[in-house]
Amino acid sequence: MRFDIITLFPELFLPFFRCGVVGRAFSGGLARAETAQLRDYCEGAHGADDRPFGGGSGMVLAAAPVLAAVRDMRKRNAGPVIYPTPRGEVFSDAVARDLAKLPGCIILCGRYRGVDERALEAEADREISLGDYVLSGGETAAMAVMDAVLRYVPGVLGNPLSAEEDSFGGGLLDAPCYTRPEVVEGRAAPAVLLSGDHAAIREWRQARAREMTAERRPDLLSPPQPPPSKMEGG
Ligand code: ADE
Repeated sequence: MRFDIITLFPELFLPFFRCGVVGRAFSGGLARAETAQLRDYCEGAHGADDRPFGGGSGMVLAAAPVLAAVRDMRKRNAGPVIYPTPRGEVFSDAVARDLAKLPGCIILCGRYRGVDERALEAEADREISLGDYVLSGGETAAMAVMDAVLRYVPGVLGNPLSAEEDSFGGGLLDAPCYTRPEVVEGRAAPAVLLSGDHAAIREWRQARAREMTAERRPDLLSPPQPPPSKMEGG
């Protein structure tokens, strides 16, 4: 899978590309990522950003360099252009799985007040929000999206069952986990986990996962139902 990231701050991605699971995905050749500096697509006296029409605070990323950068990325990346923004569809495990099936994606990182709407109308295929809060740029959202997506790229997790066992993989939050020592400040790890009885351990984990989900995220147990169609009922 190939990621091309358009950003004013390519340096933010350097440690992200090198560390942990994500780093191994790239160093192991299972995925690749490149950043493009938006300023390299500015022409003449025009910069990457300008004051918003209609006034108000903050600057707006100008359409021309965004369009030029996206179109250049499309030459090497067949995937959709994703624009992280608080107004997008809310990112989720389901969206991550969906994106992981693609050959790649291009992520356009906004800054300041956002991107000139006309560039988004012309080139953004999907807008994704991490949640109901405002980040100062799309870069941290891009990293979150890449991290969650890469976990579903075959071969990235050493054990392919890990993604399924993690929170949301089975539609539930993950059960709590423990490691040595057996007792920490008087708190003992659950005895069943030390029993060696794999069926009992599986059952315990499933029960804790259901309990945890019911307590903290009951919405995951009963996802919203679609509204009844007009044909149904009276
Ligand atoms: N950019 C700024 N805020 C964001 C958010 N909540 N999600 C995704 N991208 C963003």
